[in-house]
Amino acid sequence: MSNLIVLGTQWGDEGKGKIVDLLTDRADVIVRYQGGHNAGHTIVSNGEKFILHLIPSGILHPDKLCVIGNGVALDPQALVEERDMLTTRGVTVDKNLRISDACHLILPYHRAIDKESEKFRGTRRIGTTGRGIGPAYVDKMARIGIRLGDLANPALFREKLEQNLAETNYLLEKLYTTHGLDAETIYGQTMALADRILPFMDDTALTLHHAIRDKKTLLFEGAQGTLLDVDHGTYPFVTSSNSSAGGALTGTGVGPTAIDRVLGVTKAYTTRVGSGPFPTELINESGEYLREKGQEFGATTGRARRCGWFDAPAVRYACRINGISEIALTKIDVLDALPTLKIATGYEIHGKKVEEFPRRVELLEAARPIYESHPGWSQPTSGVRNYDALPDNAKRYIARIEELIEVPVTVLSTGVGREDTVLRQDPFAAR
Ligand code: GDP
Ligand code: IMO
Ligand code: MG
Repeated sequence: MSNLIVLGTQWGDEGKGKIVDLLTDRADVIVRYQGGHNAGHTIVSNGEKFILHLIPSGILHPDKLCVIGNGVALDPQALVEERDMLTTRGVTVDKNLRISDACHLILPYHRAIDKESEKFRGTRRIGTTGRGIGPAYVDKMARIGIRLGDLANPALFREKLEQNLAETNYLLEKLYTTHGLDAETIYGQTMALADRILPFMDDTALTLHHAIRDKKTLLFEGAQGTLLDVDHGTYPFVTSSNSSAGGALTGTGVGPTAIDRVLGVTKAYTTRVGSGPFPTELINESGEYLREKGQEFGATTGRARRCGWFDAPAVRYACRINGISEIALTKIDVLDALPTLKIATGYEIHGKKVEEFPRRVELLEAARPIYESHPGWSQPTSGVRNYDALPDNAKRYIARIEELIEVPVTVLSTGVGREDTVLRQDPFAAR
């Protein structure tokens, strides 16, 4: 059996939820390794739509183990709400979920700082999801974070909370001139939630080690996308974790030798939510068309996603950073009715031709895409399950993408449902 990382190669929302759900059949354990409830992963199962934020997308399969690794920032309230939503809808959660005792908690003061610091930044704001993700990871790196395991020791939790709030309230009141938060209230609310979360707590690194030893198949589910990675993305317009392949190791405690393949999920065009450079963005009716046809509205915040043409150097860069072995290309059906499609093959930056994705954000901000045009296929691909049934121009578009990104497209998604898929090669099959 092989262990696989599935992650996004653009700015998120590539369709990871659908692809993870699809591949869960072939896996035993599904693991989230970074991010938090800033993620919104959509799954349509037997016509029913689920949006998951924190719990791995494998949860809809009743016989699979789902793990939230130490790299995830865990909002106790969001977790309990998601668990309740799933159980109300008949999904088995309680016997299938384990959460690392080393997950850092997102507490109400992280949300307050997220909101206030965005206001403070003005035009240089990141456009965060406002979920408190960045401030929780700041605390982790500053070594003042509160972890899930701390809730098992209420006196220790109270002490850490009071200490952190003394600092945070100073910031909220003096710098951001808003009101501070009350330690006693947060303590009471969090301890009430703790009773419902601690039963899931586990030494997940050990659980995963045992699974690997027993030759189980592991699927690591990335959140966000490579271009939002805090090290390799379009910094500072990124999220605060490593959404790239390295995060699957540090965020779970699994070693690199356990990983066999990395599958990149790539949208057949490009979208982005929030601020930051986006060279192929279409601020015209073509962008509007992609947004409407692709239903490009945030699964977490409902914000309209910015839309644009396929950016080949950006995806080639993501393939390189992650060691991607194969691509799942999604939403090809959204392009069906367009007479002409464009692909950026490089950029012009300050009068010079550049082939590779620039690492410095100010260069990307100045980048003008160099496009090549492709004829559309004016024929529905929606729901197609067989590669041979695709129109020739769609096959040519896919082949050109493969050539430009230097990685094969082995899975094609032609609709929201699990079954709307062309599987050219099984990512779990031995090769
Ligand atoms: P994720 O964050 O990467 O899991 O992606 P999101 O769920 O935020 O956004 C992807 C959206 O596209 C969701 O609404 C999916 O239901 C939808 N989707 C996924 N694959 C396809 C596809 O092949 N065609 C169409 N039309 N929609 C798709
Ligand atoms: P999934 O997993 C798209 C973006 C936000 C913002 C930046 C930082 O569904 O692909 P944060 O709240 O993380 O501090 O915001 O990152 N962002 C996402 N964009 N999909 C996501 O998740 C995202 N998670 C965060 O819009 O620009
Ligand atoms: Mg999403």
